[in-house]
Amino acid sequence: PTSSVCVLDSKDAAGSAPCAHSLDSIPGPTNWPLFGSLIELLRKGGLKRQHEALIHYHKKFGKIFQMKLGSFESVHIGAPCLLEALYRKESNYPQRLEIKPWKAYRDLRDEAYGLLILEGKDWQRVRSAFQQKLMKPTEVMKLDGKINEVSADLIKRIGRAQVNGKINDLYFELNKWSFETICYVLYDKRFGLLQDSISDEAMDFITSVKTMMSTFGLMMVTPVELHKTFNTKTWQDHTAAWDRIFSTAKLYIDKNLKRHSNGKTGNFLCDIYHQSHLTKKELYAATTELQVGGVETTANSMLWVIFNLSRNPCAQAKLLKEIEDVVPAGETPRAEHIKNMPYLKACLKESMRVSPSVPFTSRTLEKDTVLGDYTLSKGTVLMINSQAIASNEEYFDNGKQFRPERWLQEKSSINPFAHVPFGIGKRMCIGRRLAELQIQLSLCWILRDYDIVATDHEPVDALHSGTLVPSRELPVAFVRR
Ligand code: HEM
Repeated sequence: PTSSVCVLDSKDAAGSAPCAHSLDSIPGPTNWPLFGSLIELLRKGGLKRQHEALIHYHKKFGKIFQMKLGSFESVHIGAPCLLEALYRKESNYPQRLEIKPWKAYRDLRDEAYGLLILEGKDWQRVRSAFQQKLMKPTEVMKLDGKINEVSADLIKRIGRAQVNGKINDLYFELNKWSFETICYVLYDKRFGLLQDSISDEAMDFITSVKTMMSTFGLMMVTPVELHKTFNTKTWQDHTAAWDRIFSTAKLYIDKNLKRHSNGKTGNFLCDIYHQSHLTKKELYAATTELQVGGVETTANSMLWVIFNLSRNPCAQAKLLKEIEDVVPAGETPRAEHIKNMPYLKACLKESMRVSPSVPFTSRTLEKDTVLGDYTLSKGTVLMINSQAIASNEEYFDNGKQFRPERWLQEKSSINPFAHVPFGIGKRMCIGRRLAELQIQLSLCWILRDYDIVATDHEPVDALHSGTLVPSRELPVAFVRR
């Protein structure tokens, strides 16, 4: 990474002094009593369009701004130099914003926390138990057989489900694909979600994850204790969904542990359990969170790359040529092939830049930290606005254009901190390599059989709903080659 000095522009540095300024002097939208900037945000399209408002605020206030929504205060950073500065000052146990509703459920049922909500030394212990299997490239490459089995199902499903090339609710089909893959990897169990008839158990499992995800957002912005005290419908639905997720996950984790109790290696979870000092409870919680973390994010990134290829037929043709050059006809694409497919990797990277799934992540500062021209105090919630950076013309020429070639230039001037769709540092996404391999292999399968065609050229907006989802059914069709 470059170590360029971070110079804040004139909009930020009102009377820039050599010493660091306090939090109060950071610019930001008007902070009204009680509401802060909530009403302004609602006027800009509400929480569904919060990612657009953040881009707007960075344009207006510069690389760093602060905002208050009700009682929730946060500082937003949207420049590679600030991300780099944060990365260099990172502690051993970086923290993200708490997901209180998840913690409340675990406390209620006396279950453990997983990677998404753990903190401190416990987080590091659980993270290192999974790190090798999920982040070491040679380990992840071994998962290609499982990924391919599910990709083969996806191809058949597209064949059966399409009507004139159009697939009804493509997003749900892709959610089934990512759900099936992550379950196969974690539990060594096929649920058969891409078959025409789906078992009640499988349908209940995927629906529970969907319900759990759709009910926690409200409890992030209103006190979860109130929901619990008044036993609101949201709280009831949320806990019932977690109950079902945990009971199914435990069933299959226990089956794996029993089947491989002789200590034989080769089973994903057993290897981790036997090689670490995790308790069973910790294994349950960590596995469950890996599962829920890996479904919608991966499906969503796949959805957007399909969309971007449909709108860029030249890039699609170039990608198909690379696939055909590297993977001999009739052969299954493997992780080993992907190593020789720079254009495929560039297409995914570019798609995640122009249409990210996750527009920001967060950190809660564990100590007073100087960032750019400001001193931020311990406890400050910092929002890392990765989408605002990736869409900024200052860092990407013709930034709106889908141009995979920008990643392949020999003398690239792209700052590595300008594109961080999986976050940064020690707490970055642990499923990154698995997700990338999954999407890359499945794209090989799809493109060899289908031309992905745009069925209209009207804009498709992205709306924030946990991930950035398309505002309408994607205008794409799969036409058999
Ligand atoms: C964390 C994005 C796939 C599991 C994260 C973070 C982002 C992210 C932005 C926050 C990182 C940070 O704060 O610096 C994505 C995207 C994916 C994806 C865009 C798909 C394209 C997956 C998969 C899994 C997964 C497949 C499961 C295998 C997790 C977990 C964390 C995480 C457990 C928390 C890590 C920790 O705090 O130690 N992801 N993710 N993600 N992701 Fe992913």
